[in-house]
Amino acid sequence: MLYYSLAALGLTLATASTAIASTLPITEVAPPVSRRWLRDDKVRGVNLGSLFIVEEWLAKDEWASMGCKGVYDEWSCVKKLGQEAADAAFEKHWKSWVSKSDIDEIVSYGLNTIRIPVGFWIKEDLVYSDEYYPRGGLKYLDRVVGWASDAGLYVIMDLHGGPGSQAPNEEFTGRSTAVPGFFTDANYERALKFLEWMTERIHTNNAYRTVGMLEIINEPIKRRVNATNADDMQKRFYPAAWDRIRNREKKLGIAKKDLLHIQYMGSNWGSGHPEKYLTDTTFLYFDDHVYWKFDTRSGKNKTSYINATCSLYRPEADVIVGEFSLSVASALQNTPEFAIQGHPENKAWYTDYFAAQVSIYERSGGWVFWNWKCNWINQFNDWRWCYQTAVRAGAIPKDASKVASLSPC
Ligand SMILES: *[C@@H]1O[C@H](CO)[C@@H](O)[C@H](O)[C@H]1NC(C)=O
Ligand SMILES: *[C@@H]1O[C@H](CO)[C@@H](O)[C@H](O)[C@H]1NC(C)=O
Ligand SMILES: *[C@@H]1O[C@H](CO)[C@@H](O)[C@H](O)[C@H]1NC(C)=O
Repeated sequence: MLYYSLAALGLTLATASTAIASTLPITEVAPPVSRRWLRDDKVRGVNLGSLFIVEEWLAKDEWASMGCKGVYDEWSCVKKLGQEAADAAFEKHWKSWVSKSDIDEIVSYGLNTIRIPVGFWIKEDLVYSDEYYPRGGLKYLDRVVGWASDAGLYVIMDLHGGPGSQAPNEEFTGRSTAVPGFFTDANYERALKFLEWMTERIHTNNAYRTVGMLEIINEPIKRRVNATNADDMQKRFYPAAWDRIRNREKKLGIAKKDLLHIQYMGSNWGSGHPEKYLTDTTFLYFDDHVYWKFDTRSGKNKTSYINATCSLYRPEADVIVGEFSLSVASALQNTPEFAIQGHPENKAWYTDYFAAQVSIYERSGGWVFWNWKCNWINQFNDWRWCYQTAVRAGAIPKDASKVASLSPC
């Protein structure tokens, strides 16, 4: 069940309740109507990846212009540049990577949601003196959520980079490290402090009024990589995250209908089933990331990709597919059958591939494409990862709300 931002529909409270009531089957109990939520539609969105956690692979030119060329993650770049110079370089990036016109363009494409990946270090007092993270991002987070709420976009706030890093060798954590250090009391506690603080900010800062979902940790370690770590996190961090968010809301006196949706990676991700130790699941939501590129079951040709997309994955209930792309296996992406540079005849297939995915993900809560924007992947702006460029190239249709109806599935 998903409640939606009223602002997204541009309705007043009174007219909205009438509108909801009239679209519900009569047997169903009308959902609580609130300032923050409205049950209505599917999530259709894009990630603002590489804004607060820059990933070199999808922003190579940007990374180089920041002075980070030659190193792989934010940690190493801050270390390389020195704190002051790094703060200045990152500020320049935050100022320009996503502008108000990006938000307008997102809305103009029929999208209703953005997911914002952030690192715990945006709350600067959580950072230890021997850690290397850029400072000054919060002001720009406030700015971008303010634009989003003014535009009526629903926002998923995603703790994407956890203290100590929650997965091995991933630049998206902010610090790529072979042995991730998230799984300790001290680092769980830092993440919990972040979540409490973010909960309060969402409920008390007007710029955050359309932030409806808080994701407690993005893509943590999988059980097959280290079951000890994954099980410990599931047992000790997952329920604590729930309690700390809800307790903070209780302290703030938030009405039940205005409680945040709390989002966990679903069991499909491979870190265990998040519900195992939760005693309350009111407004619980799941995240799933579906990348056919990395799934050998998608085969080696256009037909097999569509076939796999249509038949091999069904989202669980209450899942939002928070990341997916149009990319195909690295060995295939530049072949005549799949290449996009110099092969305009392949574009229509990518539209099918997109519509097929969308139609499947809309069987549950909806979808959020990875990524809105990129800047030089594999020697060019590869729109298989970049929504903005894909729309401009004519591969993704201009109205996201109608895409599912184009599905070849
Ligand atoms: C899993 O993590 C634990 C605790 O950090 C560590 O002792 C163990 O060596 C790791 N196991 C593997 C297979 O990496
Ligand atoms: C595509 O691949 C599948 C196996 O994944 C195969 O059965 C089929 O014949 C192939 N189709 C074409 C047109 O090559
Ligand atoms: C289509 O997918 C099914 C599994 O759902 C598989 O058995 C079949 O071989 C696939 N066909 C092609 C052409 O890839």
